Amino acid sequence: MPTIRQLDAEETLAALHALCAVLADCVEGGASVGFMSPFTPEDGIPFWQGVAEAVRRGETLLFVAEHEGEIVGTVQVGFATKPNQPHRGDLMKLLVHRRARGLGLARLLMEAAERGTAQHGRSLLVLDTATGEPAEAIYERLGWERAGVIPDYALFPDGRYCSTTLFYKRVHPAL
Ligand SMILES: CC(C)(COP(=O)(O)OP(=O)(O)OC[C@H]1O[C@@H](n2cnc3c(N)ncnc32)[C@H](O)[C@@H]1OP(=O)(O)O)[C@@H](O)C(=O)NCCC(=O)NCCS
Repeated sequence: MPTIRQLDAEETLAALHALCAVLADCVEGGASVGFMSPFTPEDGIPFWQGVAEAVRRGETLLFVAEHEGEIVGTVQVGFATKPNQPHRGDLMKLLVHRRARGLGLARLLMEAAERGTAQHGRSLLVLDTATGEPAEAIYERLGWERAGVIPDYALFPDGRYCSTTLFYKRVHPAL
């Protein structure tokens, strides 16, 4: 059975190796998630160290999915810090290693991220994702609303332009 865990800052640093492997696998698999190819697991170290600091500051929730005892997936919620957006969060870096896809881990991670958002009293999540890629269809299946498309917003890891679809979802703050 897969398990979903929320990591604190120390646990994030302890899981650095696995998190770097998941990120590098997704980038090398062609996902537009902020990085260019070639991308090695070591290239991800500064990124995950930054995530650990954001977790320590209470600005980010980090969840991981474990399958057969190994971390193979992850997602983050970044809390908007502007005083006029105390109710909003950004859903970021939904990543599942290619060898663990199709097992329902992304759905479990997204459900955990929504619950965590609600538990922190936040009621709106937003995300952006590469237009026309598999993840775009997944968000609609999970009840997210499509807000629109921005053409040529980013690049794929191989340098091609990549349009971005914006989504949002209202979540219900925990009672
Ligand atoms: C997108 C990604 C996270 C999906 O992970 P996953 O664990 O394989 O997804 P799941 O198995 O939980 O599937 C979730 C739902 O999407 C559906 N789905 C999965 N892959 C799909 C695909 N390629 N096309 C359409 N639907 C798909 C599943 O059927 C499932 O729906 P259901 O629960 O109603 O049956 C994974 O492919 C990935 O890491 N991609 C690269 C990184 C990326 O693009 N991340 C998004 C950044 S915004």
